[in-house]
Amino acid sequence: MSRYFLTTPIYYVTAQPHLGHAYSTITADALARWHRLLGEEVHFLTGTDEHGQKVADKAAAEGKDPQAFVDEIAPLYAKAWDRLGITNDDFIRTTEERHKIGVRELLQRCYDAGDIELDVYKGKYCVACEEYYTDDELDPGDLCRIHRQPVQYYEEENYFFRLSRFQQRLLDWYDAHPGAIKPEFRGNEALGLIRSGLRDFSVSRTSLQWGIPLPWDDKHVAYVWFDALANYITAIGYGTDEERFNTWWPGRHLIGKDIIRHHCVYWPAMLMSAGLEPPAGWAVGGWLLVGGEKMSKTQGNVVNPLDLVDEIGVDGFRYYVLAETPYGNDGDFTAEGLDARYNSDLANNLGNLLSRVATVVGKKCDGVGPAPSPDSPLAAVAASAYADTAKAWDDVQPSRALEATWSLIRATNAYLEANEPWKAEPGPAVDTVMGDALEALRIVSVLASPAVPESAQAVWQRIGMPGNVIDQRLPHAAAWGGYPGGLTVVKGDPLFPRR
Ligand code: ME8
Ligand code: MG
Repeated sequence: MSRYFLTTPIYYVTAQPHLGHAYSTITADALARWHRLLGEEVHFLTGTDEHGQKVADKAAAEGKDPQAFVDEIAPLYAKAWDRLGITNDDFIRTTEERHKIGVRELLQRCYDAGDIELDVYKGKYCVACEEYYTDDELDPGDLCRIHRQPVQYYEEENYFFRLSRFQQRLLDWYDAHPGAIKPEFRGNEALGLIRSGLRDFSVSRTSLQWGIPLPWDDKHVAYVWFDALANYITAIGYGTDEERFNTWWPGRHLIGKDIIRHHCVYWPAMLMSAGLEPPAGWAVGGWLLVGGEKMSKTQGNVVNPLDLVDEIGVDGFRYYVLAETPYGNDGDFTAEGLDARYNSDLANNLGNLLSRVATVVGKKCDGVGPAPSPDSPLAAVAASAYADTAKAWDDVQPSRALEATWSLIRATNAYLEANEPWKAEPGPAVDTVMGDALEALRIVSVLASPAVPESAQAVWQRIGMPGNVIDQRLPHAAAWGGYPGGLTVVKGDPLFPRR
């Protein structure tokens, strides 16, 4: 069976998760769910990034010991993911022992390879990014371009990772793995960074205590990005369980465009240095902007995803973030957009189809769903909806996948409007139309389940299908003719009451 190891970024535990964190975690969750439907063995990892100056500063500002502080914040992430229906198989915290062991192992391997050396760092650092910048990478006034806040100057003896030695190896590797970064234009950004020349980067700090000490020199703690990136391998057993590590690595990373340099340049070079394989792939998302700005604590435009879920439901929220923005591009979050999507696609299309079908089956078929016709005009529509949905998930384009799935919903509504079974006398003609519509709903519930899992299960149950929609397997479950007929169809309350 093919394996699919998927990760989200591990988020800084400086405050509770915001909409931007929910966006990347939901996107990864939908992908993981899609790959489970394909019958792949999925391992889906998320977690929290707990070391470094940014977290240490925040803990100090609250007058708390850093460990006590991160112990308060990390569970807020786990709870939020629970509420959003996230099906992660593991949750790694970088303060866990399994992680510290693996990080020390990775550092030692790179050190033994001769790729980590002592030098002096003099320069500028954005604490919000936890990143070093040269003057030409900063805006006037030494402002970080992402956070629009001043960087810090510092000078200290650091160990450096000799990234400059990896330029050609990285270019060769990407050349041999076309399409490894999706979408393609984000891959071009990564290649641009590599071609423009690579600077060695510091992998240790002495002015900071909140981190993992280097195995060969405990006056230094590991640079937070070296520490954080390693989570992708320490969580699956690097340094603690080699067999498990070999089972799952290489994995695939879903990230935001702000961290391309770390994931697509630093990380594969670190892995090469340690004699490990680079990742199997990357999916790079844009930012969800609020009022035209990247949402961040620094900008003060933070939207709490859990408030939105209380308003519009888990699936209404998941659907919106997945459908609204082509993955890779920036999107603009608005409350009006959230309602508009909900009303048009969920209430008027999917919700309306389900309630029409259940009403007519109740009135004209004694509440028992008839079987579909093998040569229904909807069969071809379903086949191409499936093909397009599958292709789009494979390209990591959830908005296109949902568009393709929803084309079957729209075609089925149009088919009902053309046949008007609600006006016809009960009999074989009505049965055929309703059987076809039920079969379309069955297929839709499977294909839509990665995005709207609770609603998909509700549709599945109301049309009388036994068991769980998430246990279905593609492509079999999308093949026309799977609805057996003779099942009790339940009307129920509106799935998506209009807003
Ligand atoms: O960078 N829109 O953590 P972080 C879309 N700890 N996505 C957003 C977003 C927004 N407005 N804001 C955040 C870190 N994200 C490091 C990562 S990984 C080894 C270490 C998402 O808490 C997006 O995926 O700043 C971004 O890359 C990630 O959160 C950064 O989260
Ligand atoms: Mg950030």
